[in-house]
Amino acid sequence: MQNFISLLKQSISQETLIYISFGNVRNKSTLYRKVTIRPVLLRNQLSYQATYHFEKKVTHKNFKQEDCISFCIELLKDSFKQCNLFCEDADYQILAAKVDKLKIIKSSPSKRKEDIQLSHNQEKQYIIPDGEPCDFLIHLGVMTKEGRVIQRHYNKFRQINRFLEIVSDVIDYLPDRAKIIDFGCGKAYLTFALYYYLNFKLKKDVTIIGLDLKEDIIDFCNKIASQLHYDRLVFQMGDIAEYQETAKADMVVTLHACDTATDFALIKAVCWEASVILSVPCCQHELFSQIHNDINFPILKQGILKERFSAILTDSLRALKLTEHGYDVSMIEFTSLEHTAKNIMIRAVSDVNRKNQQTAAMKQAAEEFKTLCSFWNVNPTISKLC
Ligand SMILES: C[S@@+](CC[C@H](N)C(=O)[O-])C[C@H]1O[C@@H](n2cnc3c(N)ncnc32)[C@H](O)[C@@H]1O
Repeated sequence: MQNFISLLKQSISQETLIYISFGNVRNKSTLYRKVTIRPVLLRNQLSYQATYHFEKKVTHKNFKQEDCISFCIELLKDSFKQCNLFCEDADYQILAAKVDKLKIIKSSPSKRKEDIQLSHNQEKQYIIPDGEPCDFLIHLGVMTKEGRVIQRHYNKFRQINRFLEIVSDVIDYLPDRAKIIDFGCGKAYLTFALYYYLNFKLKKDVTIIGLDLKEDIIDFCNKIASQLHYDRLVFQMGDIAEYQETAKADMVVTLHACDTATDFALIKAVCWEASVILSVPCCQHELFSQIHNDINFPILKQGILKERFSAILTDSLRALKLTEHGYDVSMIEFTSLEHTAKNIMIRAVSDVNRKNQQTAAMKQAAEEFKTLCSFWNVNPTISKLC
């Protein structure tokens, strides 16, 4: 039994476990014939799902990592005489006719991790699929050379694919030859993803500039871009607010750029008449110290509510300002709330044909913006966009 336990511990801790199957029931009165176990992501935690195979139905039970081992030991002791353990490095057949005399037979691996669904329910069809080597993901350490997503980077992998899904929804607003700016690109996983998707998957002719305050990040990203031969992807050091480039960008991306950095990015985007803006604001602190309204004092006196409300008001005012400037604006969920609370994206698209028309919606947005600012006694940075 000790060898079996060691095998389980090792395959679970090293995340090489693909699938476990228990069969050959010890006792004919056992109602289920087989139990299988596979890793699943539950609320983003690597967990294990046992499936009980009854005569005419299957049922499921989920386990935390630490409980999976004791569950397997119990199954082998009490219910089954055989277990097959499929790992990335090998298959193991455990014969347990006598519990105190286990026989373990090792053979070459027969299953691949990408063949097993990791998600709790249906596996998603990702734009960049798990199992298909993708150069920038390999370079950034998210995938192995063989194209397998490394478990601990699965969140990042899903965020990248979610971002590309959002981009695919607005693709009709972008010209085939487009210039994009990613303000506050950070380590640029999403910038690389954007370049890869538009230039290689969709065969567009897209130039991207990533801008960030941090020199080391910019050097790192330029090095990777050059190693990957992403020749039209350039990273520059600078502050969004002081960015001087006057040439028009067709799309502006700004994901998690803090506080008013988002406003400066939106202002630039509108001035360039960018057709697409994708912005995930964060750390909306600006209005916290300004917001004041006597009627709502009972809410605002609670710091945490005031903070959350300030963030919502900030983003609502941003959305109104973009609408006033002719954009169709929607607030969408970027990643699921269980990953991060910073998950609201402002998606704004502008139809070139409607650009110079003053619509009723634009007028109404302008009115609403003024009313809200006066009601809450605020003057946000986005007001600079007159
Ligand atoms: C939380 S990271 C997000 C990185 C990336 N956009 C993402 O979502 O994965 C925010 C980045 O924005 C950069 N940043 C914040 N304010 C900025 C500003 N005013 N100008 C340029 N970059 C800024 C920071 O240096 C940091 O790298």
